[in-house]
Amino acid sequence: MAFQNIITKTENGVLYITINRPDKLNALTKQTVQEIGEAVSLGVGTDEVKAMIITGAGPKAFVAGADISEFVGLTVEQGKALAKAGHDVFNKIENSPKPIIAAVNGFALGGGCELSMACHLRVASNNAKFGQPEVNLGLIAGYGGTQRLIQYIGKAKALELHMTADMIGAEDAHKMGLVNYVTTPEELMPKCVELIEKIKTKSPMAIGSVIRSVNAYFEEGVNGFEKEIDEFGKCFGSEDFKEGTAAFIEKRKAQFTGK
Ligand code: COA
Repeated sequence: MAFQNIITKTENGVLYITINRPDKLNALTKQTVQEIGEAVSLGVGTDEVKAMIITGAGPKAFVAGADISEFVGLTVEQGKALAKAGHDVFNKIENSPKPIIAAVNGFALGGGCELSMACHLRVASNNAKFGQPEVNLGLIAGYGGTQRLIQYIGKAKALELHMTADMIGAEDAHKMGLVNYVTTPEELMPKCVELIEKIKTKSPMAIGSVIRSVNAYFEEGVNGFEKEIDEFGKCFGSEDFKEGTAAFIEKRKAQFTGK
């Protein structure tokens, strides 16, 4: 598929999605968000793809937010529609049964911080900066940020970041639990690939169950414990379960198919 604002490539079962507007610090236009959504759908639907990595082009930014130039003149209804379109794509990322890692290579502000938070894991280079600076513009986070930041760092710090618009560095983000690992810029991709290689040795079917069960904790009206019971039970009907237990008993490495 031809994209204008992102670059995609598949290598060793990993779909790399690179947001490619480095001169605008990879700010997310509506079209960019749509393209990310299309790429993720392709990744989810393609057998060859086992995991995805989302990153930004250039050395300076992951994503410096939604593209502010597109905000000018929007009505209340258009603002809601913009947020809804962003939510749909970021929810798709969060609910992908295949793991998605954000390789945060610089500024992750506003929609960039929100995009990273929709991913299952975040690895940040030590030059990364996170923040939700929307109040500077008379706005609030609109791509899930008011809800997801609390999930990672708790209400007190989330309110502080949203209200002060302060940026935090990668190390602080790591200490707060927002980021899984901090690396040098050179080690960023190798660390993401290392994590994916480890996850790739596990049952893809079970990984999908883990994601659905953990996400259920945050879903309104869903009892996460019930979800876990359901997902646990479903595992017993899978080929992966048969293979995983047989391999354990036969003292060999499991060869999972994701079925
Ligand atoms: N939307 C649109 N354009 C953006 C952008 C955004 N969110 N963030 C950066 N850009 C553009 C700048 O306008 C500039 O374009 P230009 O060269 O055509 O003037 C280019 O990217 C480089 O940004 P610049 O501000 O010159 O870089 P800097 O190193 O001085 O500052 C930031 C970096 C991230 C601190 C600054 O760009 C910034 O504050 N961006 C907005 C962050 C934000 O509020 N995000 C939330 C949006 S809801």
